[in-house]
Amino acid sequence: MRVLFVCLGNICRSPTAEGVFRRLLDERGLARRVEVDSCGVGDWHVGKAPDPRTREAAARRGIDLSTLRARQLRDEDFRRFDYLLAMDHDNLAAIRARAPVEHDAHLGLFLAFAGWPDRAVPDPYYGGEAGFEEVFDLVEQGARGLLAEIESRLEGRS
Ligand code: 4NP
Repeated sequence: MRVLFVCLGNICRSPTAEGVFRRLLDERGLARRVEVDSCGVGDWHVGKAPDPRTREAAARRGIDLSTLRARQLRDEDFRRFDYLLAMDHDNLAAIRARAPVEHDAHLGLFLAFAGWPDRAVPDPYYGGEAGFEEVFDLVEQGARGLLAEIESRLEGRS
């Protein structure tokens, strides 16, 4: 199973989701059965580490994001990943616009897995520190819901 988290720059929200979800998978012993990655729909920050404010918020919760590097969404992601999960509605529109006519991936909003079918993880880039904490709180809820979905799909397979 392969999951790709998608935001605008791949330096704030989607790296946070990648780190949080990877830790949950580790805790559940599922790290080898589920591949996790993140990317941005934009290219401004390609090759850069996550934003320092994101890294600090993660470090406060015991998550190291310092080795991640931003990349942009690629055509082959639609073949490689089972889930492409957008942080907000603009990201989702960009993913859909880029999607090939035929693909099997689930394209949707990440927080739908937390039971919020229409809610976005707000872009914290131009705001203060509280925005980065809010991203974490929302991402943790989305990640728990996504874990439940993935666990039930893996059970169906084994
Ligand atoms: P992200 O945040 O999409 O959560 O990584 C942003 C990062 C950079 C920019 C916007 C949002 N930017 O405009 O450069």
